[in-house]
Amino acid sequence: MTRPSAEMRAAMAAAEVGDDVYGDDPTVNRLQALLAERFGFERGLFFPSGTQSNLAALMAHCGRGDEYLVGQEAHTYSYEGGGAAALGGIHPQPLENDADGLIPLARIARAIKPQDVHFPPTRLLALENTIGGRVLPLVYQREATQFAHQHGLHTHLDGARIYNAIVKLGVDERAAAAGFDSVSVCLSKGLGTPSGSVLLGPAEFIERARRWRKALGGGMRQAGVLAAAGIYALEHNVKLLAEDHANADYLACGLRNIGLAVEPPQTNILYVDVPPAHTEDLRRHLEGRGILATVRPHMRLVTHLDATRPKIEGALQAFRDYPHWNPRAHG
Ligand SMILES: Cc1ncc(COP(=O)(O)O)c(C=O)c1O
Repeated sequence: MTRPSAEMRAAMAAAEVGDDVYGDDPTVNRLQALLAERFGFERGLFFPSGTQSNLAALMAHCGRGDEYLVGQEAHTYSYEGGGAAALGGIHPQPLENDADGLIPLARIARAIKPQDVHFPPTRLLALENTIGGRVLPLVYQREATQFAHQHGLHTHLDGARIYNAIVKLGVDERAAAAGFDSVSVCLSKGLGTPSGSVLLGPAEFIERARRWRKALGGGMRQAGVLAAAGIYALEHNVKLLAEDHANADYLACGLRNIGLAVEPPQTNILYVDVPPAHTEDLRRHLEGRGILATVRPHMRLVTHLDATRPKIEGALQAFRDYPHWNPRAHG
């Protein structure tokens, strides 16, 4: 939802570029090297989207007919068009996420298939951090990745919002990536670029992902224009994420004061319960106040760079002014 700022656009306009399909774009190379160094991986690879970065990672980890274990709520399973199965020939084994977003190790263990012609070979455990705004505890991260490796599985992290977890936990990038064989980092979410993700991993893994990126149509030419936005975001916008988290707390508190049931946000995402009979009326009411929202009974609200405190205050006021309900009466 963010729009690139004037300063980010200036950095994009000034970017030195080359042909990234040939690996000749100096700005893309700089972004890839910067993130690889920060997260402690051999190499990085720039993608147009997080969806494509995740898919290329799954395809570089798994062959046709292999299986990957993934949370039922995970983006790669639920919100990426079924690409792993449809385009990668990879069999997903979805596992229920607990309320805190975690998948208990016993549940993972039960899903690992024995070697038997009846079953697809289980190759990979894919986790997500943050997942629905919830942060994976470092202890869980260590136990889950160690457990996967002990069982011969690779580990991939969809780190679309890894910087939110880093800021929340107060750790560095290497700690947040520890135990994962590959990590996909999005620059276009809280960090505010128009597009772009970087996949991180060992050199030979990234070389395989690079071939899949080409096959998936993700080989971009003068992509330095986009990579420059990413470098700008890493230099200027990571430190602003704490404000998004504080704004999410503020919004949650305001909504609770109206009488709505709100899940306390851990980072920049919160969920509020809207009585089902009111979703369409509330959507229209908010639209009338210039607020475009997908209103569901379990409604997701996300704070970001462009959702400044006055705008959040305006959104809260619009909720307060909704005339047709008494949320307390709806429990
Ligand atoms: C957790 C997660 N992973 C991956 C993606 C995909 O990113 P993109 O929209 O760049 O394809 C998203 C997008 O919202 C996401 O929330």
